[in-house]
Amino acid sequence: MKDSQINPQEHSEIKVLLLRKYLEKYISILAHSPFISEVEVYDLFCGEGIYENGKTGSPVIILNLIRDIYLKYSSNFQGDINFKCVFNDFNKDKIAKLQKYISENNISLDGFGSFTCKNVDYNEIKIPLLDSKTPGNRRRFIFIDPYGYKDIKITDIERMLSDGFTEVLLFLPTQFMYRFEKEATPDSLQIFLNDAMQDIELKSSKSGIDFINNLQQGFSNRLITKHVDSFIITREGNQYFAMFFFANHLYGLEKFLEAKWDIDEEQGRGWSPKSAGQIDLFNPVDSSPVLDKFEENLKVFLREKRTNIEVHRFTILNRHLVKHTNIILKDLQDRNKLKVTLNDGKDARKGSFYIRWDDVKTREPKSYIQIV
Ligand SMILES: C[S@@+](CC[C@H](N)C(=O)[O-])C[C@H]1O[C@@H](n2cnc3c(N)ncnc32)[C@H](O)[C@@H]1O
Repeated sequence: MKDSQINPQEHSEIKVLLLRKYLEKYISILAHSPFISEVEVYDLFCGEGIYENGKTGSPVIILNLIRDIYLKYSSNFQGDINFKCVFNDFNKDKIAKLQKYISENNISLDGFGSFTCKNVDYNEIKIPLLDSKTPGNRRRFIFIDPYGYKDIKITDIERMLSDGFTEVLLFLPTQFMYRFEKEATPDSLQIFLNDAMQDIELKSSKSGIDFINNLQQGFSNRLITKHVDSFIITREGNQYFAMFFFANHLYGLEKFLEAKWDIDEEQGRGWSPKSAGQIDLFNPVDSSPVLDKFEENLKVFLREKRTNIEVHRFTILNRHLVKHTNIILKDLQDRNKLKVTLNDGKDARKGSFYIRWDDVKTREPKSYIQIV
């Protein structure tokens, strides 16, 4: 289905759109890597896979995506890759419906992977994923999409990430949590917030968005060496829900940002219905990124000479894309306000800044960039 065919009023479709956009990048990159031989995808609250309106849910999206990427690109892969998917839901009927749909539609990963459908409680299925030792040639992605928050503990996410090779995408009904935080806080929420927002004064959030930002800050403080980001989904009536992304590596965060900016071409921050039904947010007319604030910060950062690696990192940590930084650097260069030199001290070719991932991943600086 094309993005434009999605009815943007339905927030759950935005949720799976982000999942799909991110996983497309994640699966494709790992499948092409000569160092990775196994990718595990866990959908721990998977639902029934197909809805009354015919729209597909997360497990079906995941299976189709893996199959499509394999069939399209496997001739370019540099080694064997095996995919393992685990779909789980504690509702027996939903799992049965999912299995029926998969078998009726002959969706299979035969020859390059396998999947299992489980019917247990999250609190049971999560156990082997905590503190596990994942070998270096394996990567794991865990999607956590509960209706509520009572089963979710940031400690669990911390332990899932502890192998260094896992990424987690978590949906939280933040609007309800924010409202409850303000009013009578139920015990389960109190426990969650005490755990997640240790250094942040509770009840201090001024709005639903402020609450999401505080929660993200709390997660970041807690998971100090990891990357945490969020995507805000607005429902009618300014109700804000959020997807939180947790990754061990900057490259994972970069790919997540690309997925976010694919959906929100102006801010890379989230999705809202605006004048729902009138504007096609998936095919916006002339939506260009808003770079003003980032440009200001980047210019301050470049007052000192920086390596290409530092400029790449600065870009990602400021939630922007390399292509945004390239636009700003090109403009500075055209106005003779930028000096870019190579390791041998010579000027770099015009328009070459070496800030893409392929140029920075070796961790050896290739260029030095400064405002003059
Ligand atoms: C929001 S729905 C999932 C939707 C699905 N991810 C999708 O995009 O199509 C949440 C699902 O979690 C299941 N669920 C709720 N609590 C659970 C628990 N403790 N353990 C396992 N599954 C649970 C529900 O039965 C429901 O199908």
